[in-house]
Amino acid sequence: MSAAVRPVSALLLGLLWASSASASEFSRLRIPPHEQVARVARFISHRCDWASMATISSHEQVAGQPFSNAFSVSDGPLGSSSGVPYMYLTRMEVSVQDLEVNPSASLSMSLAQTDYCRQHRFDPQSPLCARVILSGSVMQVNGTEAEFAKKSLFSRHPEMINWPTDHNWFFSKFNITQVWVLDYFGGVKIVTPGEYFQASPYSKYL
Ligand SMILES: *[C@@H]1O[C@H](CO)[C@@H](O)[C@H](O)[C@H]1NC(C)=O
Ligand SMILES: *[C@@H]1O[C@H](CO)[C@@H](O)[C@H](O)[C@H]1NC(C)=O
Repeated sequence: MSAAVRPVSALLLGLLWASSASASEFSRLRIPPHEQVARVARFISHRCDWASMATISSHEQVAGQPFSNAFSVSDGPLGSSSGVPYMYLTRMEVSVQDLEVNPSASLSMSLAQTDYCRQHRFDPQSPLCARVILSGSVMQVNGTEAEFAKKSLFSRHPEMINWPTDHNWFFSKFNITQVWVLDYFGGVKIVTPGEYFQASPYSKYL
Protein backbone atom coordinates (compact mmCIF):
# COMPACT_ATOMS: atom_id res chain seq x y z
CA MET A 1 0.00 0.00 0.00
CA SER A 2 1.38 3.40 -0.90
CA ALA A 3 1.73 6.09 1.74
CA ALA A 4 -0.87 8.20 -0.09
CA VAL A 5 -3.50 5.45 0.01
CA ARG A 6 -2.97 4.64 3.67
CA PRO A 7 -4.74 7.67 5.24
CA VAL A 8 -7.72 7.18 2.90
CA SER A 9 -8.16 3.54 3.82
CA ALA A 10 -7.65 4.40 7.49
CA LEU A 11 -10.53 6.85 7.15
CA LEU A 12 -12.69 4.23 5.46
CA LEU A 13 -11.79 1.84 8.20
CA GLY A 14 -13.07 4.22 10.82
CA LEU A 15 -16.37 4.54 8.97
CA LEU A 16 -16.88 0.91 8.09
CA TRP A 17 -15.43 -0.99 10.92
CA ALA A 18 -15.47 0.24 14.47
CA SER A 19 -12.77 -1.99 15.84
CA SER A 20 -9.16 -1.57 16.86
CA ALA A 21 -7.73 -3.52 13.89
CA SER A 22 -5.09 -1.67 11.89
CA ALA A 23 -5.52 -0.51 8.30
CA SER A 24 -3.05 -3.11 7.09
CA GLU A 25 -5.05 -5.91 8.71
CA PHE A 26 -8.18 -4.58 7.08
CA SER A 27 -6.67 -4.53 3.60
CA ARG A 28 -5.01 -7.91 4.08
CA LEU A 29 -8.38 -9.55 4.65
CA ARG A 30 -10.34 -7.75 1.94
CA ILE A 31 -12.15 -10.45 0.06
CA PRO A 32 -13.28 -9.85 -3.56
CA PRO A 33 -17.05 -9.16 -4.01
CA HIS A 34 -19.04 -12.37 -3.43
CA GLU A 35 -20.58 -12.32 -6.92
CA GLN A 36 -17.08 -12.53 -8.44
CA VAL A 37 -17.00 -16.18 -7.51
CA ALA A 38 -13.83 -17.18 -9.37
CA ARG A 39 -11.90 -14.34 -7.70
CA VAL A 40 -13.22 -15.38 -4.30
CA ALA A 41 -12.02 -18.93 -4.98
CA ARG A 42 -8.55 -17.67 -5.94
CA PHE A 43 -8.46 -15.42 -2.88
CA ILE A 44 -9.24 -18.33 -0.57
CA SER A 45 -6.72 -20.64 -2.28
CA HIS A 46 -4.02 -18.01 -1.90
CA ARG A 47 -4.75 -16.99 1.69
CA CYS A 48 -5.03 -20.47 3.22
CA ASP A 49 -1.81 -22.12 4.36
CA TRP A 50 -3.36 -25.54 4.75
CA ALA A 51 -6.18 -27.64 3.37
CA SER A 52 -8.24 -30.67 4.29
CA MET A 53 -7.65 -33.33 1.67
CA ALA A 54 -10.04 -36.22 1.26
CA THR A 55 -8.77 -39.34 -0.48
CA ILE A 56 -10.38 -42.71 -1.15
CA SER A 57 -8.85 -44.89 1.51
CA SER A 58 -6.65 -47.82 0.53
CA HIS A 59 -6.25 -48.95 4.14
CA GLU A 60 -8.07 -52.12 5.00
CA GLN A 61 -9.94 -50.79 8.06
CA VAL A 62 -11.82 -48.24 5.90
CA ALA A 63 -11.02 -49.36 2.35
CA GLY A 64 -13.02 -47.47 -0.26
CA GLN A 65 -14.26 -44.88 2.24
CA PRO A 66 -13.48 -41.15 2.21
CA PHE A 67 -10.49 -40.22 4.38
CA SER A 68 -9.85 -36.58 5.25
CA ASN A 69 -6.53 -35.24 6.51
CA ALA A 70 -4.80 -31.85 6.90
CA PHE A 71 -1.96 -30.78 4.58
CA SER A 72 0.17 -27.69 4.30
CA VAL A 73 -0.40 -26.03 0.93
CA SER A 74 0.78 -22.99 -1.01
CA ASP A 75 -0.25 -21.71 -4.42
CA GLY A 76 2.69 -19.32 -4.49
CA PRO A 77 4.72 -17.04 -2.26
CA LEU A 78 2.44 -14.39 -0.69
CA GLY A 79 1.56 -11.93 -3.45
CA SER A 80 2.49 -14.40 -6.24
CA SER A 81 -0.58 -16.61 -6.52
CA SER A 82 -0.66 -19.28 -9.24
CA GLY A 83 -3.96 -20.83 -8.18
CA VAL A 84 -2.35 -24.29 -8.13
CA PRO A 85 -2.16 -25.77 -4.63
CA TYR A 86 1.28 -27.30 -4.15
CA MET A 87 2.11 -29.84 -1.44
CA TYR A 88 5.25 -31.44 -0.02
CA LEU A 89 4.57 -35.14 0.39
CA THR A 90 6.19 -38.41 1.39
CA ARG A 91 5.07 -41.93 0.54
CA MET A 92 5.34 -42.73 4.25
CA GLU A 93 2.20 -40.65 4.83
CA VAL A 94 -1.17 -42.40 5.26
CA SER A 95 -3.14 -40.31 2.70
CA VAL A 96 -0.30 -40.32 0.17
CA GLN A 97 -0.50 -44.12 0.28
CA ASP A 98 -4.14 -43.74 -0.82
CA LEU A 99 -3.07 -41.44 -3.67
CA GLU A 100 -0.60 -44.06 -4.88
CA VAL A 101 -3.58 -46.38 -5.44
CA ASN A 102 -6.05 -43.71 -6.60
CA PRO A 103 -4.84 -40.12 -7.19
CA SER A 104 -8.41 -38.72 -7.04
CA ALA A 105 -8.87 -36.32 -4.16
CA SER A 106 -10.80 -33.33 -2.91
CA LEU A 107 -9.19 -30.35 -1.24
CA SER A 108 -11.13 -27.88 0.90
CA MET A 109 -10.00 -24.53 2.26
CA SER A 110 -11.99 -22.06 4.35
CA LEU A 111 -11.48 -18.47 5.48
CA ALA A 112 -12.23 -19.93 8.94
CA GLN A 113 -8.51 -20.79 8.73
CA THR A 114 -7.68 -17.07 8.57
CA ASP A 115 -8.70 -14.18 10.84
CA TYR A 116 -11.46 -13.20 8.42
CA CYS A 117 -14.42 -15.21 9.79
CA ARG A 118 -13.49 -14.59 13.43
CA GLN A 119 -13.20 -10.85 12.87
CA HIS A 120 -16.57 -10.75 11.10
CA ARG A 121 -18.12 -13.19 13.60
CA PHE A 122 -19.08 -15.64 10.84
CA ASP A 123 -19.49 -19.20 12.04
CA PRO A 124 -17.34 -21.62 9.97
CA GLN A 125 -20.52 -23.18 8.54
CA SER A 126 -22.09 -19.81 7.65
CA PRO A 127 -22.13 -19.28 3.87
CA LEU A 128 -20.51 -15.90 4.59
CA CYS A 129 -17.42 -17.67 5.96
CA ALA A 130 -16.28 -18.32 2.40
CA ARG A 131 -14.81 -21.65 1.42
CA VAL A 132 -13.73 -23.54 -1.63
CA ILE A 133 -13.83 -27.24 -2.44
CA LEU A 134 -11.57 -28.45 -5.22
CA SER A 135 -12.14 -31.71 -7.08
CA GLY A 136 -9.32 -33.35 -9.00
CA SER A 137 -6.24 -35.42 -8.45
CA VAL A 138 -2.76 -35.14 -6.99
CA MET A 139 0.30 -35.48 -9.17
CA GLN A 140 4.02 -35.17 -8.64
CA VAL A 141 5.69 -32.18 -10.31
CA ASN A 142 9.20 -32.03 -11.71
CA GLY A 143 11.66 -29.58 -13.20
CA THR A 144 10.79 -25.89 -13.20
CA GLU A 145 7.35 -26.52 -11.74
CA ALA A 146 8.95 -28.36 -8.79
CA GLU A 147 11.25 -25.33 -8.34
CA PHE A 148 8.19 -23.06 -8.16
CA ALA A 149 6.46 -25.48 -5.75
CA LYS A 150 9.55 -25.42 -3.52
CA LYS A 151 9.67 -21.61 -3.46
CA SER A 152 5.92 -21.46 -2.82
CA LEU A 153 5.93 -23.95 0.04
CA PHE A 154 9.23 -23.14 1.74
CA SER A 155 8.48 -19.39 1.86
CA ARG A 156 5.22 -20.01 3.71
CA HIS A 157 6.18 -23.15 5.64
CA PRO A 158 9.83 -22.54 6.56
CA GLU A 159 9.91 -25.56 8.88
CA MET A 160 9.73 -27.81 5.79
CA ILE A 161 13.35 -26.94 4.97
CA ASN A 162 14.42 -29.07 7.94
CA TRP A 163 12.09 -32.03 7.51
CA PRO A 164 14.00 -35.36 7.61
CA THR A 165 15.55 -36.12 4.22
CA ASP A 166 15.18 -39.90 4.71
CA HIS A 167 11.42 -39.45 4.19
CA ASN A 168 12.07 -38.78 0.49
CA TRP A 169 9.82 -35.74 0.25
CA PHE A 170 8.63 -34.74 -3.19
CA PHE A 171 6.62 -31.82 -4.61
CA SER A 172 3.09 -32.33 -5.86
CA LYS A 173 0.26 -30.28 -7.19
CA PHE A 174 -3.47 -30.58 -7.01
CA ASN A 175 -4.73 -30.94 -10.60
CA ILE A 176 -8.05 -29.08 -10.42
CA THR A 177 -10.96 -30.41 -12.51
CA GLN A 178 -13.82 -28.57 -10.75
CA VAL A 179 -14.10 -25.72 -8.27
CA TRP A 180 -17.02 -25.43 -5.84
CA VAL A 181 -17.46 -22.15 -4.00
CA LEU A 182 -19.60 -21.32 -0.98
CA ASP A 183 -19.31 -17.59 -0.40
CA TYR A 184 -22.87 -16.35 0.02
CA PHE A 185 -26.48 -17.41 0.51
CA GLY A 186 -28.16 -19.40 -2.27
CA GLY A 187 -26.10 -22.55 -2.41
CA VAL A 188 -22.84 -23.73 -3.87
CA LYS A 189 -21.54 -22.18 -7.11
CA ILE A 190 -19.42 -23.97 -9.68
CA VAL A 191 -16.38 -22.37 -11.30
CA THR A 192 -14.54 -24.06 -14.17
CA PRO A 193 -10.75 -24.44 -13.95
CA GLY A 194 -10.49 -21.96 -16.86
CA GLU A 195 -12.47 -19.28 -15.03
CA TYR A 196 -10.53 -19.98 -11.85
CA PHE A 197 -7.10 -19.60 -13.42
CA GLN A 198 -8.07 -16.42 -15.30
CA ALA A 199 -9.36 -14.65 -12.19
CA SER A 200 -7.25 -12.29 -10.10
CA PRO A 201 -7.11 -13.22 -6.42
CA TYR A 202 -5.99 -9.79 -5.35
CA SER A 203 -8.03 -7.05 -3.83
CA LYS A 204 -7.03 -3.48 -4.53
CA TYR A 205 -4.69 -3.02 -1.59
CA LEU A 206 -2.87 -6.33 -1.53
C1 LIG B 1 7.52 -36.43 -12.34
O1 LIG B 1 8.44 -37.46 -12.12
C2 LIG B 1 7.85 -38.61 -11.55
C3 LIG B 1 8.95 -39.56 -11.18
O2 LIG B 1 9.86 -39.72 -12.23
C4 LIG B 1 6.84 -39.19 -12.54
O3 LIG B 1 6.24 -40.34 -12.00
C5 LIG B 1 5.79 -38.17 -12.83
O4 LIG B 1 4.89 -38.61 -13.80
C6 LIG B 1 6.42 -36.87 -13.30
N1 LIG B 1 5.40 -35.86 -13.36
C7 LIG B 1 5.21 -35.07 -14.40
C8 LIG B 1 4.12 -34.07 -14.30
O5 LIG B 1 5.90 -35.15 -15.39
C1 LIG C 1 -5.62 -33.27 -14.82
O1 LIG C 1 -6.75 -34.08 -14.76
C2 LIG C 1 -7.49 -34.14 -15.97
C3 LIG C 1 -8.77 -34.90 -15.72
O2 LIG C 1 -8.54 -36.12 -15.09
C4 LIG C 1 -6.63 -34.78 -17.03
O3 LIG C 1 -7.33 -34.84 -18.27
C5 LIG C 1 -5.37 -33.95 -17.21
O4 LIG C 1 -4.51 -34.59 -18.11
C6 LIG C 1 -4.67 -33.78 -15.88
N1 LIG C 1 -3.59 -32.82 -16.01
C7 LIG C 1 -2.34 -33.18 -16.12
C8 LIG C 1 -1.35 -32.07 -16.22
O5 LIG C 1 -2.02 -34.34 -16.12
